Amino acid sequence: MKHHPISLFGQHNIFFLKFFIILFLSCIATRFNFCLSNIPSSLKTLPLVGHLSFDELSLTKASRDFGNRYQYHPMAILYPNSVSDIANTIKHIWNMGHSSHLTVAARGHGHSLSGQAQTHGGIVINMESLKVYEMNVDVIGNDSPYIDVSGGELWINILHESLRYGLTPRSWTDYLHLTVGGTLSNAGVSGQAFKHGPQISNVQQLEIVTGTGEVVNCSKDQNGELFHSVLGGLGQFGIITRARILLEPAPSMVKWIRVLYSDFTAFTNDQERLISEENAFDYIEGFVIINRTGLLNNWRSSFNPQDPLQATHFKSDGKTLFCLELAKYFNFQEMDIVNQEVERHLSHLNYIQSTLFQTEVTYVEFLDRVHVSEIKLRSKGGTIEHLLLFQMKIFST
Ligand SMILES: Cc1cc2nc3c(=O)[nH]c(=O)nc-3n(C[C@H](O)[C@H](O)[C@H](O)COP(=O)(O)OP(=O)(O)OC[C@H]3O[C@@H](n4cnc5c(N)ncnc54)[C@H](O)[C@@H]3O)c2cc1C
Ligand SMILES: *[C@@H]1O[C@H](CO)[C@@H](O)[C@H](O)[C@H]1NC(C)=O
Ligand SMILES: *[C@@H]1O[C@H](CO)[C@@H](O)[C@H](O)[C@H]1NC(C)=O
Repeated sequence: MKHHPISLFGQHNIFFLKFFIILFLSCIATRFNFCLSNIPSSLKTLPLVGHLSFDELSLTKASRDFGNRYQYHPMAILYPNSVSDIANTIKHIWNMGHSSHLTVAARGHGHSLSGQAQTHGGIVINMESLKVYEMNVDVIGNDSPYIDVSGGELWINILHESLRYGLTPRSWTDYLHLTVGGTLSNAGVSGQAFKHGPQISNVQQLEIVTGTGEVVNCSKDQNGELFHSVLGGLGQFGIITRARILLEPAPSMVKWIRVLYSDFTAFTNDQERLISEENAFDYIEGFVIINRTGLLNNWRSSFNPQDPLQATHFKSDGKTLFCLELAKYFNFQEMDIVNQEVERHLSHLNYIQSTLFQTEVTYVEFLDRVHVSEIKLRSKGGTIEHLLLFQMKIFST
């Protein structure tokens, strides 16, 4: 079976505008009614377990995303309740042929910044309603344990489910209230990537609805071309309905460290040193910190309000700073050894001495850290822009 990338999925703004103009003109040129009424009525005949919504409130919701910069109004929202709901809808659109100009976009948690999960006049598939697969952890048989999840599942839920078996996914994003399909369509990058690769390198198998409405499994060895196209494919090669995510034993605690640099070369030298050392840390990331509108203070309070070192009065003098963020995973009985090891690694680094912040938190608190600062920021009336500035960083990969 050969799979071709198709233009059915999603849209990029300029193309979309073109399509819209063509659609509009062809509507006038042919029968106006055909465009506005025939397509929805043919969709309404589809045999679905879930449903299609033409309701204004749903349409408006699906025309927005986290970035809040682009708004494309779709024609309908599909709330799938089975994989065949998605397959039937796409097959139907495929059979309409090119002249329908109808586009489809999968929507995960809608945390895109530039309308990637939107489609003007098309159909948005609300992946979070696809709860057809129970999350299923497999600890035996395979070389490595894994969890099977729905494409619309949130990473935070996958974390909690895996932890019930003492296991955890290996590679993360900083923020966990995103869907599997959404991050696997990009890459899924955080401080574990230097060790395990991005999230797309930690997937064993996918179930995909292709652009022609077929349901197929793919992996490195089966339909490999489709597998590698969909991973990081920006939603353009098919809809991810299920994913098999590799797991590893979960630690209980995390030693979490942040240090600041004003010198960029010193900062990157230290990052490179730590990355090349075997087993120094489990997580290495870097941020650029621009001292604007109290952001620096916010950065500190989001780290740990109880930390006595908070009292240290460090002044940046308006300079851009670089923050090296490190984490070492451990279990309670290893505390002393881990402390010694961390101390030894830190003693070789060239950060500004008065800026060492360290704390110990649970593994879940560490992984869900951005959500905690998001809640704090929102409660203080902070904007999305603040959060994104906070998120601006140089990845250590
Ligand atoms: C606060 C915040 C923090 C972030 N932190 C990180 C980070 O640390 N690391 C990182 O790598 N990224 C990060 N991101 C970016 C994030 O990974 C992407 O924006 C991701 O696409 C969002 O997932 P979502 O579920 O909201 O997807 P959506 O925004 O809904 O969709 C994103 C894209 O994926 C497609 N898509 C969605 N679901 C599917 C599916 N099931 N099958 C096929 N295609 C699909 C959509 O059509 C769209 O093109 C962050 C974003 C925010 C807002
Ligand atoms: C895909 O794989 C899953 C799990 O291995 C299996 O249950 C399912 O039937 C497969 N689907 C197809 C279309 O082959
Ligand atoms: C941020 O920069 C301003 C000068 O632009 C300075 O007065 C302030 O002390 C700085 N804040 C911190 C926390 O360093």
